[in-house]
Amino acid sequence: MSKGTIKKVAGPLVIAEGMRDSNMFDVVRVSNQRLIGEIIEMHGDEASVQVYEETSGLGPGEPVESMNAPLSVELGPGLITSIYDGIQRPLDEIMKVSGTNLKRGVEVPSLKRDKKWNFVPTVKVGDEVQNGDIIGTVQETIVVNHKIMVPYGINGKVKEIKAGEFTVEDVVAVIETKDGDKEVGMMQTWPVRKGRPYLKKLPPEMPLVTGQRVVDTFFPIAKGGVAAVPGPFGSGKTVIQHQLAKWAEADIVVYIGCGERGNEMTDVLNEFPELKDPKTGQSLMERTVLIANTSDMPVAAREASIYTGITIAEYFRDMGYSVALMADSTSRWAEALREMSGRLEEMPGEEGYPAYLGSRLAQFYERAGHVVSLGSDQREGALSVIGAVSPPGGDISEPVSQATLRIVKVFWGLDSALAYKRHFPAINWLTSYSLYVDNMADWFDDNVAADWMENRQKLMSLLQDEAELEEIVKMVGMDALSASDRLKMEAARSIREDFLHQNSFHEVDTYSSLKKQHLMMKLVLAFYEQAKEALEKGANIQGLIKMEVREKIGRFKYVTEDKLDKEYYAVLKELAADIANVFGKEDF
Ligand SMILES: Nc1ncnc2c1ncn2[C@@H]1O[C@H](COP(=O)(O)OP(=O)(O)O)[C@@H](O)[C@H]1O
Ligand SMILES: [Mg+2]
Repeated sequence: MSKGTIKKVAGPLVIAEGMRDSNMFDVVRVSNQRLIGEIIEMHGDEASVQVYEETSGLGPGEPVESMNAPLSVELGPGLITSIYDGIQRPLDEIMKVSGTNLKRGVEVPSLKRDKKWNFVPTVKVGDEVQNGDIIGTVQETIVVNHKIMVPYGINGKVKEIKAGEFTVEDVVAVIETKDGDKEVGMMQTWPVRKGRPYLKKLPPEMPLVTGQRVVDTFFPIAKGGVAAVPGPFGSGKTVIQHQLAKWAEADIVVYIGCGERGNEMTDVLNEFPELKDPKTGQSLMERTVLIANTSDMPVAAREASIYTGITIAEYFRDMGYSVALMADSTSRWAEALREMSGRLEEMPGEEGYPAYLGSRLAQFYERAGHVVSLGSDQREGALSVIGAVSPPGGDISEPVSQATLRIVKVFWGLDSALAYKRHFPAINWLTSYSLYVDNMADWFDDNVAADWMENRQKLMSLLQDEAELEEIVKMVGMDALSASDRLKMEAARSIREDFLHQNSFHEVDTYSSLKKQHLMMKLVLAFYEQAKEALEKGANIQGLIKMEVREKIGRFKYVTEDKLDKEYYAVLKELAADIANVFGKEDF
């Protein structure tokens, strides 16, 4: 182990000398308090160390010891339901040791050492295995079946395999390799700044269904895709991230609360476990790993938190699961990066962010994907990443938003004007986009309805026309519009209010299946198309606008999934009757 001494302390940055034998990205222990840090720059025998704990009181001459290993996470049973800080220290365990004020230098293992897990083997003595192969399973929580995989770099023949109750440090298998026998336990470690390997990446062609209409219908994210949600304070970033955590088709959720709120750490710890998993009725934590870095926690750990989170997410992806990772907010992460860069006295780029902001963001998002995992069974896993961005004042021309937009394929632009009008989710339908739509068009047409894409396009066009018509109305007033344009405006309003608007807090409206989304699209279009035809045949525009069935169309979002078809046909029937009725009456 190489040892040096502190030369200088600048906030979370410590310069140590006498460090010639250490390497970039080595984990170090700083001072006799043994604070955890990581080498982020080397010059000769001087190392710049980013320290993940409060450095006040530290001074020159104190020891700095390199652990000769990169910053890594522990991967194995016990991850699910855990709440970690940015370098995978279990917050609840630390609080037990040191109370709510995080004491420095506490050493608590990431995975519990004393807990026994029931290991069920899936291979037998004599089987040939390679890295990534599943050798057994552990029922980690009610909903998560944890697959124990052969660690990277181990290939050979099973010499011994156990069954029963073991801790993560026990040996559950021995594998005979050409370099000798290897003992395998249920825990692996992996360096956080390096993506976990896989066999190959597959193109994104399946949506990550979220049950959120504006997302699935208009701006879908692929399984294994990347999306950004930029928006000003109060526009709904956290609500949408929570909705996706609850409803997206993900077996595992990794949620990184990244310096966003000014709240105390305890708030985050209390709030998230209270979210209910609609699929199981249990706490959402039963399939979640939570990484919490509130703004009152050391800034350097926030920089590391997104790597810690994504490494854990990749590990579950490797098991063949659909994993969704949310980071709220990447802006706070970028600010941590900026602070460290400033301390290093690097040449500042735009708004003080380092020139490598964009490449760091890209390296992070690139770890998403739909992949074939290592191992002989060709299992597929997906890691989808959704990052919230909180640009100051909501102005996305700033560097973090711009750098993010160059990378992600889906942009859900939250709009303060919509939020102010309480149109939620406040995703602006004119500026948002999904570059996965073309790839996934066939999937929707084949798996939901043959006219899915066609209907989606009709809705989009009506909304675009509405935006243009609004300009005209602003200049010359509503009365100047032709009857058919008035009808178009009404149809667009119905799309906005009846279809796009979705209340996350309403027990039925909070989630819409794709089937329901399809029927809702058809209803708003049925009104428009049939009313248009009636108008052409001479029906009265006022009468068409005031038809009672429109109220029913508006309430279709509250129809439960089991009554969809029945209610759909009832509304269509009423629509036909109402239109006939408009012809019957001459004046209103
Ligand atoms: N989909 C939604 N349905 C209902 N209310 C919403 C929705 N999205 C946001 N809101 C409202 O907006 C408020 C602010 O949202 P939040 O996600 O905390 O904003 P941000 O994280 O962008 O600051 C929420 O407390 C809620 O009242
Ligand atoms: Mg928020």
